[in-house]
Amino acid sequence: MSCPLNLCLLDTAELRRRFAFRPELSLLYDRRHGLEHRLNETAAAFVSCTFSSLEPASAVAGHLGVTRDFAAGELARFWSRTVLAHTRPHSTRKSGAPPGWSAADLAFPLVIEVELTKVCNWHCDFCYNVWKVPDDYGRRARSVTGGAGDGLHLPIDAARRILDEAAANDCLRIRFSGGEPTLHPQFREIIAYAGEKGFDIELFSNGTLIDQSLASFLSRSGVRVLLVSVHGLAATHNRMTANPRAFEHAMNAIRAGLEAGMTVLPECLVSAENIGEVPGLVTRLAGLGVRHASFMPYVPYGAQDPPPGGRAAGGAEPDRGMHAGHGRGRQLPCPVRAAALPGNRTGTYQ
Ligand SMILES: C[S@@+](CC[C@H](N)C(=O)[O-])C[C@H]1O[C@@H](n2cnc3c(N)ncnc32)[C@H](O)[C@@H]1O
Ligand code: SF4
Repeated sequence: MSCPLNLCLLDTAELRRRFAFRPELSLLYDRRHGLEHRLNETAAAFVSCTFSSLEPASAVAGHLGVTRDFAAGELARFWSRTVLAHTRPHSTRKSGAPPGWSAADLAFPLVIEVELTKVCNWHCDFCYNVWKVPDDYGRRARSVTGGAGDGLHLPIDAARRILDEAAANDCLRIRFSGGEPTLHPQFREIIAYAGEKGFDIELFSNGTLIDQSLASFLSRSGVRVLLVSVHGLAATHNRMTANPRAFEHAMNAIRAGLEAGMTVLPECLVSAENIGEVPGLVTRLAGLGVRHASFMPYVPYGAQDPPPGGRAAGGAEPDRGMHAGHGRGRQLPCPVRAAALPGNRTGTYQ
């Protein structure tokens, strides 16, 4: 289809693929660069007419009460100078809600986190997820192949349905996580499918399997941000993840991700155990070429933590899976709670 806006840069189908438009928030999202454009009323009408009409210039002319030629010029200016010219990539900045925003205004989640698998090759005792897996977790996790029907991996058809629904509803961003998502038997197919849909994709990984070849595949498939967990300098990170080579793997994954052109965002769980190493970690990461990092306050919901709400006096410990643990004093003396952080608007499919 030729370009009805005379932009000659992108046709409307390509604009539709690259940008998600959420009229309920007057928000235009550039999936390729992770940029949010907050639109005024006129700009929102430009976008709406571009995406819903075969003759956008005529639709804008009718909407604004101006001539078609004038509307065509304004439309072209809007797309070329206001939107397409802005491509500066940034981190996974969560910009917070616009003034007057309410969650009830949302027609669909803005960001969806898809947990591809419950399986993981590590055993971080702080993890809020691993205690969900069955008692024979260790044996199954090591076998990795798991099989789609055992309830450990999200079936690929379900993953496709989630992505189809998210695309149809202009979801801005998909984040794949787990467990360790790279261990899903059809991991590459799922990533490729999300890429075909044009999503802004983030992948959350412990980095073990991310070498140059996988990083290059991810980048080619549209993964813009690679989040790699790093919880301190080598000894601390290896201890917290119970893996003597975890730090080495994480560093290799970060290097591979940067070389492949992705934004690499190391993610550090900050607890009383590692907070003293944060400055040293930042220096080390900056030396690799990392430009953004994320620091996540520890949520006391891991395998070694007391159950939510604590144990009733004299009562039995609630059943919470294979690990019913007892805290390790990891929690920071800090009133911030993850659930209260601005921009925490992620829908999670588990
Ligand atoms: C559940 S993991 C899944 C992805 C991948 N396996 C990894 O570790 O990066 C996602 C992130 O959640 C973090 N996480 C796990 N348990 C946590 C907890 N109790 N509090 C805060 N963050 C936690 C991990 O450190 C990791 O950065
Ligand atoms: S690597 Fe990720 S999913 Fe696996 S145990 Fe650690 S935090 Fe949990």
